[in-house]
Amino acid sequence: MQNVGSVYLTRKLPDPALQYLKESCALKLWNEEQTPVPRDVLLKQIDQVEGIYCTLSDKIDREIISSSPNLRVISTMSVGYDHIDVQFAREQGIKVTYTPGVLTETTADLAFTLLMSTSRRIFEANRSIYEGKWKGWAPLFMAGRDIYGAKLGIVGMGRIGQAMVRRAKGFNMKISYYSRSRKKEMEQQEGITYKPLEVLLQESDFISLHLPGNSDTYHLIDTKELALMKPTAILINTARGSVVNEKALLAALQEDRIRGAGLDVFEREPVDPKHPLLALPNVLALPHIGSASVETRFKMAMIAAEDLVKGLQGETPQYEVTES
Ligand code: NAP
Ligand code: GLV
Repeated sequence: MQNVGSVYLTRKLPDPALQYLKESCALKLWNEEQTPVPRDVLLKQIDQVEGIYCTLSDKIDREIISSSPNLRVISTMSVGYDHIDVQFAREQGIKVTYTPGVLTETTADLAFTLLMSTSRRIFEANRSIYEGKWKGWAPLFMAGRDIYGAKLGIVGMGRIGQAMVRRAKGFNMKISYYSRSRKKEMEQQEGITYKPLEVLLQESDFISLHLPGNSDTYHLIDTKELALMKPTAILINTARGSVVNEKALLAALQEDRIRGAGLDVFEREPVDPKHPLLALPNVLALPHIGSASVETRFKMAMIAAEDLVKGLQGETPQYEVTES
């Protein structure tokens, strides 16, 4: 393939995607898989590039975009694009591409894993063996809450929210949802019920968040919302850390105002290992691995690479961000 332009890649990718980019572009890259490119390095490397291939840990803000006068395409290996100033990019005529859909089922699997593990206290129970706390069978030892037939409230009925519905139906859960717009056809087809957020929070045994991170959803779950939840309720967040006020969540958990939380995302990532939320036995924390299956990550890496190349060739990318 001909060279479609100069590109900076902010992370070492798995090979098919990396090879494809090497063959299609004049490629410069941060040759590390685990650690993000430092901002000062990124700023120095992008001054002449036409394309940036980034991940969700790279903040592609006005300063970065403005330092790259030839920039034409930003492609992120993620469905979330809250790390990119999309509005500013679009004002400069720069296309932004992302990877929706391909990671939907994998992320819903992880959200449901968090739901099941927190309700049945899987990690507490596992640790209890190593800590010598298992003295023998006891009526309420490590007793959790039922999932089968329980009430699930889904906040954000998009691709991943809908994938949660498919899983929850297998567990005969009573499903309600809150979203920006009502999905009346889905309500009929799937037997799910729309509820205002306040009502959903009051009634649900599990609340699972599936919204984008942005100024509208910032701290959507705060002290007031947590106070509405049942003391037996569990909050699952695989959306973005910014959707939940972590200080308010910590207080609610410490004061037993809710039962537990399963968190794949945090307000600041990577989360400080000393963060007080992590010390609570009823919090199951994961390092932002929602889409982390080998199959899905390979697909995401390739989709983002192909769309970057398409954009640089002047073709319409498969997945261009149209909302900011
Ligand atoms: P999506 O299909 O765009 O769904 C998002 C849903 O949220 C949409 O249904 C949308 O509303 C709703 N929504 C948006 N703003 C809202 C608001 N202010 N109030 C109420 N509802 C609102 O996105 P998706 O593919 O399901 O992904 C959702 C998010 O999950 C991503 O943006 C990303 O942040 C996160 N994510 C995390 C991981 C992980 O590794 N943990 C992996 C993948 C995705 P309407 O349809 O009702 O208009
Ligand atoms: C993961 O959080 C993503 O947005 O892809």
